[in-house]
Amino acid sequence: MALRQIRRSGDSVLRVQAEPVSRFNSGLHQLLDDMNETMIAADGAGLAAPQIGISKRVIVARDEEDTLIELINPVLSSVQGSIVEIEGCLSCPGIFGEVDRAEYIEVTGLDRDGKEVRYELEGYLARVVQHEIDHLDGVLFLDKATTLLTPEELELLRGGD
Ligand code: CO
Repeated sequence: MALRQIRRSGDSVLRVQAEPVSRFNSGLHQLLDDMNETMIAADGAGLAAPQIGISKRVIVARDEEDTLIELINPVLSSVQGSIVEIEGCLSCPGIFGEVDRAEYIEVTGLDRDGKEVRYELEGYLARVVQHEIDHLDGVLFLDKATTLLTPEELELLRGGD
């Protein structure tokens, strides 16, 4: 496994439509392993392949219990509700923002072996997966944020603990 460099906002790879994956081979497994390692090392909740410069429809995410989710060619098959929460992005260090997202989602896609998978998610993990799928379409949370916050403003809002 290897840590990959995370691309920052301004890099054009973050602004293009990523290509679907059709080969479920060792190259894909290596990519997923590297994405998981890079996400965890950067203390992120999710990562999309374009963020490490690979324009493919691959995302990883983890919940508070460190359960890993890997999704290839993910599609939001159903969304419900709406909730505004603060989020950030490993590609946009030092900026946070309030983003309105669906509260409940159903997402379908393929696992690393090309087998169909489906997840029903809510709350934090539902938000992370929506954020990562946006990356596959060249969309950053900055595009959707209603309010942007500096780390200092975020700390004040959260009570400075
Ligand atoms: Co992001």
